Amino acid sequence: MASVLKDLLGRPLRDLRISVTDRCNFRCTYCMPKEVFGKEFQFLPRAGLLTFEEITRLSRIFISQGVRKLRITGGEPLLRRDLPRLVAQLRAIDKGVDLTLTTNGSLLKEQAHDLKAAGLSRITVSLDSLDDAVFRAMNDVDFPVTRVLDGIEAARAAGLVPIKINTVVKRGVNDDHVVDLARHFRGTGFTVRFIEYMDVGSTNGWRLDDVVPAAEVIQRISAEMPLEPLDSQYRGEVAERWRYRDGGGEVGVIASVTQPFCQDCTRARLSADGALYTCLFATTGQDLRSLLRNGATDDDIVATLATIWGRRDDRYSEIRSEETAGAARVEMSRIGG
Ligand code: GTP
Ligand code: 5AD
Ligand code: SF4
Ligand code: SF4
Repeated sequence: MASVLKDLLGRPLRDLRISVTDRCNFRCTYCMPKEVFGKEFQFLPRAGLLTFEEITRLSRIFISQGVRKLRITGGEPLLRRDLPRLVAQLRAIDKGVDLTLTTNGSLLKEQAHDLKAAGLSRITVSLDSLDDAVFRAMNDVDFPVTRVLDGIEAARAAGLVPIKINTVVKRGVNDDHVVDLARHFRGTGFTVRFIEYMDVGSTNGWRLDDVVPAAEVIQRISAEMPLEPLDSQYRGEVAERWRYRDGGGEVGVIASVTQPFCQDCTRARLSADGALYTCLFATTGQDLRSLLRNGATDDDIVATLATIWGRRDDRYSEIRSEETAGAARVEMSRIGG
C-alpha cells in the first residue's frame, strides 16, 4: 500500500500534473497573450526539458507516495514529439492509475488513436466557443473551431472517454455563447465545464470585472434547460457538478475565483524543465531536475518530496488580495492548467 504524504493543512498528495512543453500553437488571450509570447519570447531550451525517462522515473516515485491521477499538460502537450511513447511508459508503471491529458484539440485528430493505444484513459479538450469568429479571436491564431470539433470526434471514436470540455468564460468575450455550448453537448455524454477566468500568471491583464461568476453561468443555462446540483464524485473535485433535470447529462463549473477550493487541493505540478510547484499561483518551484541529473537515488527524491509536501501551506485562491495580485507568478503555459 502506497504511503500518503500530508501537507501542513492535512491535504494528501493525490494528483500530479505534468507539463511536457511550455510551447503552444495557440495564443489564447487569457493565457499566452501575443504581445508577451511573440517571436522573441524565449521558451525553454530543448536540453532543459525532462526526458520521457526522467518524467517516468519521477512519476513512479510520486505514485509510490500516493498519487492516483496523472494529467499530462503543456503548453500544448501534443506538440511534444512522440508523446504516445511517454503515455505508454507511464501506463506501464501502474495499470490502475487515472492517466489523462488536457489539450487544445488542434492535433487530436492525428493522435487520438495512438494515445488510446498507448494507454491513455480519457481526455479533456479546451474549447471556448462554438462560434467560429469568437473562437478564432480567443485562440488569436485564427484556428477554426471545426478542426477542434473533428479532434473531439476522433477522441470519442478512439474511446478516450469520458470526454470533458473546458471553457474559460470571459465577460464580454464569450459569455453570450455559454448556453450554445451547453446545448450543443447536451445529451452527447460529453461534460462541459465552465471555468472562471483566473488571475494566473502575470501577463494576461486579469481584472475581476472580466470574471463571470459560476453562479451566473448556471443561472443562464438553467433558464433555458433546467439544472439541479449533483454531489461531487470525490473529495477535492474542482468542478461543481449540475445535472439537466430531464436527463440530458451534466455540466460543471469551476469557480476558483468566487468559491475557492484550496481546502481540498491535492495537486502538485511539474514543469517541463522539472520544477515542482505546489500551487497554480506559485512564484517559484523546486528544482527536481538537478536531483535527477546529479545521481540522486529514489530514496533521496522521496525524502525531498516529503519535505516539499510537508511544508506546503498554499491556498492562494482563498487569500487572493490586492497584495498578492501583482506578484511575478509562474505562467500557466509553464505548469499546465
Ligand atoms: P477531472 O479529473 O477530469 O475531474 O479533472 P479536474 O476536475 O481536475 O479538471 P482539470 O484538470 O481539467 O482542470 C480544469 C481547470 O480547472 C484547469 O484548467 C484550471 O483552469 C482549473 N484548475 C484545476 N486545478 C486547479 C487548482 O488546483 N487551482 C485552481 N485555482 N484552478 C485549478
Ligand atoms: N483562467 C482560467 N483557466 C485558464 N486556462 C488557461 N488560462 C486560464 C486562466 N487565466 C485553462 C485553459 C485550459 C486549461 C489548460 O487551463 O482554457 O482549459
Ligand atoms: Fe495554449 Fe491552452 Fe494556453 Fe490556449 S490555454 S494558449 S491552448 S496552453
Ligand atoms: Fe490548489 Fe493553489 Fe489552486 Fe488553491 S490556488 S486550489 S492551493 S493550486
